Amino acid sequence: MSANNGHDERSHRSLMYSESGPDLTSDFWIYRHFRAMAEIYHSLLMHAELLPGDRVLDVGCGSGTHFGWIAAVIGPQGRIVGLDPDADNVQLAQDRVAAAPWGRQVELRQGELAALPFEDASFDAVWCAGSLQYLPDPVGAIREMVRVVRPGGRVAAQDVEMHSMILGPMPDDLLIALKDCLPRGPVEAGTDRHQYVDWFIGHKLRGLFHAAGLREVRGHLRQREYVHPFTDDERGFLEVAIPYLCTASPGIGNLSAERRRQLAELADPSSDEWILNRPDFLFVEGRALAVGVR
Ligand SMILES: C[S@@+](CC[C@H](N)C(=O)[O-])C[C@H]1O[C@@H](n2cnc3c(N)ncnc32)[C@H](O)[C@@H]1O
Repeated sequence: MSANNGHDERSHRSLMYSESGPDLTSDFWIYRHFRAMAEIYHSLLMHAELLPGDRVLDVGCGSGTHFGWIAAVIGPQGRIVGLDPDADNVQLAQDRVAAAPWGRQVELRQGELAALPFEDASFDAVWCAGSLQYLPDPVGAIREMVRVVRPGGRVAAQDVEMHSMILGPMPDDLLIALKDCLPRGPVEAGTDRHQYVDWFIGHKLRGLFHAAGLREVRGHLRQREYVHPFTDDERGFLEVAIPYLCTASPGIGNLSAERRRQLAELADPSSDEWILNRPDFLFVEGRALAVGVR
């Protein structure tokens, strides 16, 4: 994959929703975000209660970002099946698997989360990272995960939680108004390849797991802070994410002209107000995990 992934001419809006399988060697901003988040992603996976020898389904596996971490836990006797609806992601995952020492333990399938192409009780555990946010019926999808996991097996999902978002410095009322603009429902037709995005799903995961019939449900929430001095990966991510958040979040058009002007100024690298240049810059994003037993 090329460094810019061919997306140069896309708007910030579609950039934020472009395909998501981080190739850890690329400089494309979304891969920088993955690397910046890797410690949190890894620590949440460690709470997924995978066990040596498990047969694990990774639903919405993208390019297989979590395969290596999963393989390290389940060991040489374990198996991973990665499923994603996006053919490009499945190919990226295939490339990753082909180069990995644990590659022979992995099988890849193209398919939909809402109708998993597997027999009942085929897995010891199901892992799903960053994918439930795109589904208008997450409980239906979790029920599918429950169906394919054996009795006593575990289902774990990790996803975004933007109630934790802090972006500053900016006035509190402006930050609250900005948070209200983030995606949390159907996506306007033609603006995105997804039809639905919920960036506030993280704190709801445990409730969704209960609703899908899982028991012994537990959860974790982690926050990621970005402050000066930035690493290259942090800066590469923030230089794209902050202008997106401040100028292209779905609800921005509903703000007053004055609020839109303030946000646009904060998000303009050529402005004296460019928020990344402020010594007291702060960005916080959240990520949540739920684990339950069938
Ligand atoms: C943000 S990525 C996460 C990829 C990977 N799990 C990770 O954590 O890096 C979301 C993934 O969900 C997949 N996805 C979106 N809708 C889906 C669906 N209906 N069924 C299965 N996967 C879906 C996308 O193709 C994409 O690979």
